[in-house]
Amino acid sequence: MKIAVHGLGYIGLPTAALFAQSGLEVVGIDISPDVTEAIRRGVPETREPGVAKLIERVVAEGWLRAAYKPEPANAHILCLPSPVDSGKRPLLRYIDAALSSVAPHLREGDLIIVESTVPPGTTEMLAHKIARLRPDLPDGSIFLAHCPERAIPGAALREIAENERIIGGLCPTASEMAAPLYRRISRARLNITDARTAELCKLAENAWRDTTIAFANELSLICQELGVDVWRLINLANRHPRVDIPRPGPGVGGHCLAVDPWFLVDAAPGCTDFIQTARLRNDAMPELTADRIEQALAHLSRPAKIACLGLAYKPDTDDLRESPALAVAKILADRGHEVLAVEPHIDVLPLGLASSGVRLVSCTAALRDADAIGILVAHRAFTARRTEIALHPTVVDAVGLLRSTLRDCPSIDEAGRRVENHDVAVAETAQDFGVDAVAVADLDRCKMGDPLRNPEDRPNAVLAK
Ligand SMILES: NC(=O)c1ccc[n+]([C@@H]2O[C@H](COP(=O)([O-])OP(=O)(O)OC[C@H]3O[C@@H](n4cnc5c(N)ncnc54)[C@H](O)[C@@H]3O)[C@@H](O)[C@H]2O)c1
Repeated sequence: MKIAVHGLGYIGLPTAALFAQSGLEVVGIDISPDVTEAIRRGVPETREPGVAKLIERVVAEGWLRAAYKPEPANAHILCLPSPVDSGKRPLLRYIDAALSSVAPHLREGDLIIVESTVPPGTTEMLAHKIARLRPDLPDGSIFLAHCPERAIPGAALREIAENERIIGGLCPTASEMAAPLYRRISRARLNITDARTAELCKLAENAWRDTTIAFANELSLICQELGVDVWRLINLANRHPRVDIPRPGPGVGGHCLAVDPWFLVDAAPGCTDFIQTARLRNDAMPELTADRIEQALAHLSRPAKIACLGLAYKPDTDDLRESPALAVAKILADRGHEVLAVEPHIDVLPLGLASSGVRLVSCTAALRDADAIGILVAHRAFTARRTEIALHPTVVDAVGLLRSTLRDCPSIDEAGRRVENHDVAVAETAQDFGVDAVAVADLDRCKMGDPLRNPEDRPNAVLAK
């Protein structure tokens, strides 16, 4: 059995590696010669944990090779981009182009699996396209299924193997063919359904996440207006057994959440007002976050130097696609500020930022030189320097990085005793950093929207660790 994985990006590369590791002959196809050449040499350009090492092994053992053009295979797995255009309409040209180039190589009984996230009806539309391109093949002799990917960048190998998967065949035979393939790389439950339900299911998952984050973001705006600490509020609300509010932030990014809800809006414009409003709320957040950073610097009478901690769309990844943090940095630079970007996961700034005058600097340089710090991504690298960051006189924490340990409210235990959870959290933080608990308690004043503006307020004892 030979499989071809089309598109060797965040999803296709680990998928190809796992199929190859399972003992199948795999050809990875990508239109980018840089991608295929790097794989041929066994050194793919990826920061995804474990993937480079696995690729090196399966290429050396002959299970995986890379190719620039499609070739015959028993199963073709499409892991191609599926963005939206400038009008927020689905852009299927990558999938369309790949299918056109695969079509001449198709043989009776081949299976095509769409892993890309796609609008409802796409798998069926691809079947019609094949029928048009290959009238010589008997009706129903090519099998199609939609098996959307749920893995997260940064843990792709583990999640591809451990996340439950939806297998949505265009016909029952297609599901029966796809399921044993995924059994080779997945230890989780494989849920069989039809293609349209699978398409809609993936979109529903991402729209659900996008709308709940929009709610959290709206709460953060309400809290700002009413002078309430949103992190404390959410901690308290989430003590309710049926409430689970996600964390607010500077917006929503990535290839999925910021894009996929638009597929639903496009598919059913008459009944998706709520999904659309949530999308617009999240899209407005970078601008509002930039405003907050500027407001924190209102006391300055000269052009400000602003450090943006993080550019990626989520913690611990180099993925900058649709990143709200990137948007915040760009907005601030376009408003005339000197922007110092700190992004430990990239070596070079994307062109759009570099041409706006943004500079990529170390965290140490940013903390030393900037008038204000905007915490835009909760990278582990920043969590490790939380205390140092909190000591900066002007911090706008859009992701609650400083609030994740310095938090909580007193509670009354079962015996009616008052428990100072806050003190416990402070003591634990002090222990983590090996510093004085009183100094850490001072840090707690440095909360969101209420930066320590007076350098004399700095709890210097914390520095003496
Ligand atoms: N990245 C994620 O976290 C994630 C998670 C779940 C689902 N998805 C979905 O998976 C799909 C792929 O996403 P990704 O993040 O891996 O994309 P990506 O941009 O990282 O990779 C896509 C790759 O496809 C290649 N490509 C483009 N056109 C091609 C063609 N005609 N033939 C062969 N290769 C071609 C590109 O060169 C690129 O290397 C998207 O639909 C996305 O929504 C992504």
